[in-house]
Parts: sequence; C-alpha cells; structure tokens
Amino acid sequence: MSKDSISAEMVGIGCYVPEKVLTNADFERIVDTSDEWITTRTGIKRRHVVGDSGEATSDMCIKAARQALADADMSPKELDLILIGTCTPDMKTPSAAVIVQRHLGATNAAAFDINAACVGYIYGLKAALAFIKSGMYRNILVMGSETLTSITNYQDRTTCVLFGDGAGAAVIKAGNDPTRGILASRIAADGRHEELLFVKTGGSRNPVTPENIGNGSQGIYMNGSEIFRHAVRYMQESSIQVLEDAGMKPEDLKLVIPHQANIRIIDSLRKRLHLPKEKVFVNIQEYGNTSSASIPIAMVEARSRGLLEKGDLVLMVSFGGGLVWGACLVRL
Ligand code: ACO
Repeated sequence: MSKDSISAEMVGIGCYVPEKVLTNADFERIVDTSDEWITTRTGIKRRHVVGDSGEATSDMCIKAARQALADADMSPKELDLILIGTCTPDMKTPSAAVIVQRHLGATNAAAFDINAACVGYIYGLKAALAFIKSGMYRNILVMGSETLTSITNYQDRTTCVLFGDGAGAAVIKAGNDPTRGILASRIAADGRHEELLFVKTGGSRNPVTPENIGNGSQGIYMNGSEIFRHAVRYMQESSIQVLEDAGMKPEDLKLVIPHQANIRIIDSLRKRLHLPKEKVFVNIQEYGNTSSASIPIAMVEARSRGLLEKGDLVLMVSFGGGLVWGACLVRL
C-alpha cells in the first residue's frame, strides 16, 4: 500500500477527571483573589483535582484509555504503541506510558512519554501519524494526561488558580481512506522563550535539596501576559497552516477545539479565524487548564453534547511552555 493511501483514523476516544472540585470560592480562602477576578481574567469557575485521592497521571490515563479502547472496540493486546503527552509523569522513570502499558495488559505495545507541555497531545498525534504513515505501526493509543496540581505553587495567586488535573485518550488506527482521520498536522518549538514558563527545581540542573524545599521553585513559574501574546499569534498561524495543508477553509470546520488555558486567548483566536462562537468549543469554566489533557477531554465532552459526529472536520490547536505549539486537523 502506498504511503499516501494510508490514513490515520481516530476510531475511539475517552477521558477521565478526578471527582474532587476546587471552586473559585475555595481559592478566595487560599490566596488573595476573587471569583470576579478569576472569572473575568481567565473564564475559570471550577477545576477537578486529584487532591488526597492518591491518583497520579497514569491512574487517570488508564481510565481514559479503557474508555477509548471500548469506544474503538479494540483490545489492549492489539495496540502497537502507547504515547502519553505529559509533563507531570508519576515519577522520573519509568515513563507514565510504560505504567499504563502494564495495567492495560497491552503486552504487544511499545510505550513512551512526550514532554511538550500543553501541546503533548498534539505532538503525540503527529508522532502517531508518522508511525502509521511509515507502515511501522497500525494501532496507537495517544493520550494527554496531567496532574498539574503536583507542580502548582499554592502561594502564587497568578498561577495557582489556573490549573486542574485530568486525562484524555484517542485510539488512532491505520486505514485506507485518505479523506478520513488526521488530514494535516503541524508541531513547532522556539526554545528561546524558556524563561516564560518553567519549573526550576527537581530536574538535573537544580535537583531538590534541603535548602530549596518549600521555597516555591518546585512549582510552575509563568510570565502570563507574555505567554498570552505568543499564544494567540502561534495558535492562529498553526491553525491556518493545517487548514491550508489540507486545502480547507475555516468555514469547512464543524468545530475548533483549542487548548483551554484562558477564555480571552480562545476568544482572540476565534476572532482572528473569523469564526462564530458556536464553532469554538469551551469548557475551561469546569476544568481550568489541564495542559496536554485539555483537548482530548474537550473532544469527549463535545461529542457527548452532540456537537460532533462521524464525518465532522475538527481542528485542534494548542500552545505551551517551551515555547511549543501545534495544530491537528481531523476528519472523524
Ligand atoms: N487574583 C487577583 N489578582 C490577581 C491574580 C489573582 N489570582 N493574579 C494576578 N493578579 C493581579 C496581578 O498582581 C496584577 O496586579 P497589578 O496590576 O496590581 O500588578 C493584575 O492582577 C494583572 O496581572 P496580569 O498578570 O497582568 O494579569 P493578566 O490579565 O495577564 O492575566 C493570566 C493573568 C490569567 C495568567 C493570563 O496572563 C494568562 O492566562 N496567560 C496565559 C497563560 C497560559 O496560557 N499559559 C500557557 C499554558 S500553561 C502550561 O503550559 C502548563
């Protein structure tokens, strides 16, 4: 079969979010903030968090993955590869993907994590596309999952109100209909902007020491307004690029699923793409920013609300710390 006739189809999706919810009123008791500030500046009302449930990134993945596999009517043993976009794996090693492989019983699958911050899921879809197009693999489980609350600094009011936990999954399967599945995909990076979003301590550059425990450096630092500026520009650029790559126009889209980081970023993107409100999915009010999990969670929710069905054209677009960004155009 020629490379051009191989398609990479999204045949199953699933998601999971923890039960515990933190509301804006809860944050009014933790830091100097208000429901009014958080709502108007970010669009967030609530976020689901693991709290003291003991859940980690792989636990949430396993639940999302089982749902996606059932949706695809596929057994874990049929999987060739498991990819997890995450910057909050359970531990430094092994990867979250390997832990998931074990618990699913996906004994024929290779497994690895992708750290591309909030764009991990889009990077994962691109990698899945490449593996399938090359003919190397046929069935790939791609996930985005984060326990962002494990790297949240609850003394920093500018960041702690933003983040939530969760996981989303998709089964990508080789097919032979080039008009379906992932039609175009772009990923990009610009490491010059590392200083805009990072976690300083806990890696090989600055390991955890008795001196830095508790000083906030193991939590996310972010220059929010600078990230905001780059985010809008790069999301617009990569959206237009993938549409052009596939010979499509914004009006051909059934739905745009943007990374859920800030309602004002989403609105700016929508205006730049000249799209009506109903074509851009928003659920940030319920989950906050769940990084690489936000898009796959949103896709499950969009479908369950009846906004997506087979044959629809969907654009997913994201950006995050690095900087990294990317977009993926899928015909369901
Ligand atoms: N409650 C009340 N006031 C606050 C809060 C808060 N929680 N946080 C900040 N403020 C204050 C600031 O101190 C500042 O006060 P000042 O004017 O007296 O100095 C004022 O509000 C404005 O602060 P800004 O940081 O300029 O607020 P901004 O409008 O930029 O909103 C935000 C901040 C929400 C973080 C926004 O910049 C944003 O969403 N940026 C993008 C974030 C993002 O998408 N990151 C990438 C993905 S995350 C990832 O990769 C894991």
